[in-house]
Amino acid sequence: MITQKAPSNIALVKYWGKREGQLPANPSVSFTLTNCYTETSVTYNPEHTASFEFFFEGEAKPSFHPKLTTFFERIADLVPFIKEYHLRIDSHNSFPHSSGIASSASAMAALALCLVRMEQQLGTPMTEEEALQKASVLARLGSGSACRSVYSGLVVWGAHKSIAGSSDDYGIPYPLTVNEVFKNYQDSILLIDKGRKQVSSSVGHNLMHGHPFAQARFAQAHQHIEELIPVFAAGDLERFIAIIESEALTLHAMMQTSQPYFILMRPNTLEAINRIWAFRQETKTPVGFTLDAGANVHLLYPAFCKEAVQAFITAELKELCEGGQVIADAVKG
Ligand code: PMV
Repeated sequence: MITQKAPSNIALVKYWGKREGQLPANPSVSFTLTNCYTETSVTYNPEHTASFEFFFEGEAKPSFHPKLTTFFERIADLVPFIKEYHLRIDSHNSFPHSSGIASSASAMAALALCLVRMEQQLGTPMTEEEALQKASVLARLGSGSACRSVYSGLVVWGAHKSIAGSSDDYGIPYPLTVNEVFKNYQDSILLIDKGRKQVSSSVGHNLMHGHPFAQARFAQAHQHIEELIPVFAAGDLERFIAIIESEALTLHAMMQTSQPYFILMRPNTLEAINRIWAFRQETKTPVGFTLDAGANVHLLYPAFCKEAVQAFITAELKELCEGGQVIADAVKG
């Protein structure tokens, strides 16, 4: 049996729009988190072949089979050995079920890591670098952003001219200088709406085909990464916040201007944003927000202002969350 863990990640520059083969329309960069993770075990049995069963939190979940079947078909040429076995896949998340947190990134990354470890266990020699790169390719074919969850810290996915080694095929650890302030960066996730989102991210990605603002958006993502390079090096938090908030709002602007258009923010998403802006202006605390493809708000801030932000969350933001729920996470220090 093989067991692997992979955390969730939060994009700073967003992947939104893809090309054939689950390749990104633009490069993205993310923080890999720590506390929100998926742990997956794969047991392989040669007595039955070319089949699998999936258990989530101990319960058989045939409803996940179609998604996994598609994944196994996509990666068939890269992992031909899996056809020789029956796979029993057992998975669980550290974060509450149906919290509205996307679990596909951590889930696909954990499963991809299991398959590469299985290949190694079956005798294929690989360096650790090769193993992680292959896991990132496999994870990408499961769910694009999952390819970034194979690595910790800052991760880049998608070719960018100023980042050597960056590729559309897999994520890489951000290879340039990162200021200490970004190590152990905090992410408090405000669970504004725990329900299932009405529009899946795969539908959203597809709506970027023929989107009137697509080309400008893709160019902006390249430009934002270019601008983040000196920001990451210098620890320029003011500029950092300006870029990540612009990215979050652009992501949602793309949703609101696609055909058909849709809105994933909720009234409390906007209320939280307004309170964050007011708090930042009044206290000069360097706290910013980002959004994923949903209503929840990620508060991003350096570890040194943890106490002030915690007090602000308790006083002003908790009441905007479903059941008052906020998940405390951070980039691995
Ligand atoms: O990996 P997907 O297909 O679930 O897309 C993720 C899209 C965003 O979370 C909105 C952005 C990103 O880069 O993670």
